[in-house]
Parts: sequence; C-alpha cells; structure tokens
Amino acid sequence: MIVIEQLLRQRNLPEIFPKSEKSDFKLTSNYLVERRKEILSLLSHEIYGTAPEAPENVTVKKTDASQKYSDFAGKAYVSDLVISFETETGMFSFGAVEIVPKIKEKVPVFVFGNFRGDVPDRYLPAEEIIDNGCGVIVFDFNNVTADKEDGFSSGLAAMYDRKKYSWGKIRMWAWTESRIMDYLMTCDYADKSKIAVVGHSRLGKTALVCAAYDQRFSLACGNNSGCAGDALTRGKKGERVRQITDNFSYWFCENYRKYRDNEENMPFDQHFLLAAVAPRKIALGAAFEDEWADPDSQYLSACSASEVYEKYGFAGLVHPDRLPVVGDRFSGGQICYHLRAGKHFFSRTDWLVYLDEIKKL
Ligand code: GCU
Repeated sequence: MIVIEQLLRQRNLPEIFPKSEKSDFKLTSNYLVERRKEILSLLSHEIYGTAPEAPENVTVKKTDASQKYSDFAGKAYVSDLVISFETETGMFSFGAVEIVPKIKEKVPVFVFGNFRGDVPDRYLPAEEIIDNGCGVIVFDFNNVTADKEDGFSSGLAAMYDRKKYSWGKIRMWAWTESRIMDYLMTCDYADKSKIAVVGHSRLGKTALVCAAYDQRFSLACGNNSGCAGDALTRGKKGERVRQITDNFSYWFCENYRKYRDNEENMPFDQHFLLAAVAPRKIALGAAFEDEWADPDSQYLSACSASEVYEKYGFAGLVHPDRLPVVGDRFSGGQICYHLRAGKHFFSRTDWLVYLDEIKKL
C-alpha cells in the first residue's frame, strides 16, 4: 500500500490509537470499548455537540396510509407514524412513514432521514426497496427541527436548553433516528440484526453520526456525505470547515468554529467518526462530479479507519493501492465504498449498493 500510505501520511492525521498506546497495545475488547467512548466524547465536544439521555418511553400512533401514498400494487403495508416522547419541557412528536413488505419473514429495515416527506420520492425508490424484501421508515427532517438558522427555536431544538446540551442540528436529527430505532426494537416484523441508518449529504453526515453513537444499528450508509461526514478534513478539496460553518453553523456545536482555517489543530479528523461505528458495517457512496464533497477524501478516510476494524479482527476497506475511479465498488470488508458517475444526488445506483449491503448482514 505504498501509494495510499504516502497519501495518508501527507494528510498528517491524528492517530486513532495514539503512538504510546500503540507500542504496547494489547488487544483487549475493553480497550477498544474505552477508546470508542473517548472518541465519541471528543466528537461531541468538538463538532456535533452533546445530546440528552434517551427518553424512557417512545410511543407510536400508527394509521394506515396505503390510500394516501400507495401500497405498491398491494405488496406493502404503508402507515403514517406519529412518534412521541417526553422531553425536559413536555411531549414532542414527529411524523414518519413506515413501508413494510408483505412477506412472512422478518425483514431488514432502513431508517431514512430525507429532505421531504414524499413517498415515493426522487431519493426514495420505495417499490424497489420492497421488492428487495426490505422495509423503510422515512421522515422529513424539517419535522424534527427546521433546517435553518432559527436560534434553535423550532421543533426538538426548542424542547431542550442549549446551555445544557451543545448539540447542533445534525446531532438532533441523528438522535431522532435513534428514537425510530427505539420503536423498531418493539416491531415483530423487523430483523433486529439488520437495521441500517441511511441518508444523503447533510443527512448522510447525520446517518454516520447516528450509527457512531447508537450501536443498535448494524449498518450506516452515508451517501455523498463529504465535509463533516465521511471525508477527511485535512487536505480536503471543495468544502472546508470555514465554508460549512459560514453557511450551516447551526449543524454543529460552537467549538467546531475554532477550526476554521485551522484544521491542522483539530484533535480528530473524520476517520474518527467512522472508527466509532466499527466494527459494524459502513457503506459510503461518492459521486465523481461531487467535488464539493471530494470523493478522494471520502475514500482515504475509509482507508485510514480500516485500522480500527483490523484491531477488532475484521477487514475494513478492502481496496487496491490507488485512488478510486468511476465504477469502483469495494465491498470485500466491513467498509464498502463506491464511486459512481455523475453529480451530487441520491440515485438508484446508490440505493442498489445499500440494498446489497443490508442483505449481506
Ligand atoms: C451543502 C453543504 C454540504 C451538504 C449539502 C447537502 O452543499 O455545503 O455540506 O452536504 O449542502 O446537504 O446537500
């Protein structure tokens, strides 16, 4: 791995396992558990913010919605869900749509935060998901808290004191995905060992954050997640900390702003986010024309997080000693990376990869 090792050295990344510990490293599961906790608290403190404890009870009101949307030629149960839980200042509820194939076996399920509530949607090939024997629960992230700078006054953001929890909106959306997981744990139709969280772009960042903190997810699919998602920040092309915090500061905790034009001083990089998901599966989608996200930096992040998987006794990203080219799909290990042609988009091509990965669990 001469080429990749050299490219990684040039990025000058902080080590997931600092040197002193590495030299007398003992492969104890306890060490890996403790290190994961440290990484998560670093990510909470420096980028995504801290979140409240999970609520004790999550209740769900379910109504048939097969007429409202479609039941896909009678192949699926389609329901509107209203998911509710107690917060520090009262009850909070948000809506989602549940689509479950009518088959006898338990099914793998995707939790999907989307930009809209449409079913199907240009980012949600619902019938194809059903035909692959999978279920999906989709929600419009604006129903949780608006995707705009509003002084944390909308939805879930308004329910908690931000002096107490420093979470930005990415962490809020991710935390909400865990509330959907709370519900899924009670569903007979769901194969609990095959639940994935998936999202595109800002919601791809969100999916990775969700799975990093919540070990009940067996697979995290980050589509075109880029800056503050899967892509390494050091040496990154396209979007950097300055731009993302200029335009979307409310996605993060305040501390992240310290690293504007100062990325070399970050005590972490985005491979730490992937490391916190290990040894569970990750599927990363990149698009050749998506220079803003930077496919090479997405790939190198996966290469470098592989070290953690190896410590757990698994292969991480199984890849050749070169940068990716269009059409590559590396899916031999616990991390899968694909680079498709075209632009920033959540395409059917991407979904087909994630469907393969969830079915392999
Ligand atoms: C902007 C932002 C990206 C983000 C993207 C999206 O381009 O800069 O970080 O991923 O929006 O969510 O579509």
